Amino acid sequence: MDLANRVKGIKPSPTLAITAKAKQMKADGLDVVGFGAGEPDFDTPDNIKEVAIKALRDGMTKYTPVPGTNEAKDAIIRKLKRDQGLEYGRGNIIISCGAKHTLYNVAQALFQEGDEVIIPAPYWVSYPDQVILASAEPVIVQTTEENGFRVTVDDLEKATTDRTRALVINSPSNPTGAGYTRKQLEKIADFVINRDLIVISDDIYEMLIYDDFEFTSIAQLPGMQERTILVNGLSKAYSMTGWRIGYSAASEALTSAMTKIQSQSTSNPVSFVMPAVVEALDGPQDFITMMLEQFDKRRLYIVDRLNSMHGVSCFTPIGAFYVFPNFSGLYERSFSGKKIENSNGFADYLLDEAKVAIVPGIAFGADEFARLSYASSMENIIEGLDRIEAAIAALE
Ligand SMILES: Cc1ncc(COP(=O)(O)O)c(C=O)c1O
Repeated sequence: MDLANRVKGIKPSPTLAITAKAKQMKADGLDVVGFGAGEPDFDTPDNIKEVAIKALRDGMTKYTPVPGTNEAKDAIIRKLKRDQGLEYGRGNIIISCGAKHTLYNVAQALFQEGDEVIIPAPYWVSYPDQVILASAEPVIVQTTEENGFRVTVDDLEKATTDRTRALVINSPSNPTGAGYTRKQLEKIADFVINRDLIVISDDIYEMLIYDDFEFTSIAQLPGMQERTILVNGLSKAYSMTGWRIGYSAASEALTSAMTKIQSQSTSNPVSFVMPAVVEALDGPQDFITMMLEQFDKRRLYIVDRLNSMHGVSCFTPIGAFYVFPNFSGLYERSFSGKKIENSNGFADYLLDEAKVAIVPGIAFGADEFARLSYASSMENIIEGLDRIEAAIAALE
């Protein structure tokens, strides 16, 4: 059967693929330590679950309006006012089946052939492919560890052409855990305004921040709200990845275009989850504090251990639940006569020889690195790092 060209240009999500492979190895009885998880290892808080269970029992099992219920939209509007100081109306909000779906709708509504979209690397795996699915061209701008994995205005200037439409900002970032301060975002905002661009701001890790980092969404900066499509969701902050709730706040014109697209694809987000959106955003937030405390301990431990390993350096993340160590000091070394040439080679080596699953950096556009998620128990992390250390020591 002939498939459409559009499918040939994209690849399956590599992070989901590695997680599936590690799960399968475990199911086959192999003792695999997984660092692949893109989701918190905590259960969704009970207060949120109870509200959804009640909604189900009360018969909230039918279609909702395409962009979600007004009650859920109002909770999002209150959240954006409370946390970002931004004013939006119902016509600016659409709730979709996860932030991934939100971003997909954004790309479909905004981009077309001939458009270029600037994506700083290392990037979250789906940005380039979603741009390609919209027939536009992702323009990848490399950032460096030395620059804290943040894109500079100089780099942006060089990447901008008269076809550039938008810039993607993801702070804190998956996979690096790097984040932009307000000051750093101000420089980018100046550039965006001067060049008459728009920003897709993926704020999904907003709540997962460490040390004294203060989160700012670029939408909060003067002149930027109308130029920003603010994207967020409940997956990470409330450990609700399986519930599939993402949302955007943007102009009414874009929101209504996205609503049209959604009406012809998934219709609406899940009905009985709508009251749970209100509970998550308006209810007690102590779950996040508890989760952050655990993540923070693991973060410091894992960064320390990785930095103590020969040939490895690890940037200290300020957000999310990933570390993105540089393993390129180990490339060219070999095992049983087989050379490790790149991040795929190193990840394969760890999976085959040490039964440790990590995500090769090439998946995020940065081949010197790999991503390790610390959204798993401390016991798991210690065991995994012991194995990585031993596997590195075994290299010739
Ligand atoms: C940066 C980033 N954006 C968006 C998403 C999508 O999240 P979801 O579709 O679960 O809301 C993820 C999930 O891994 C992510 O890491």
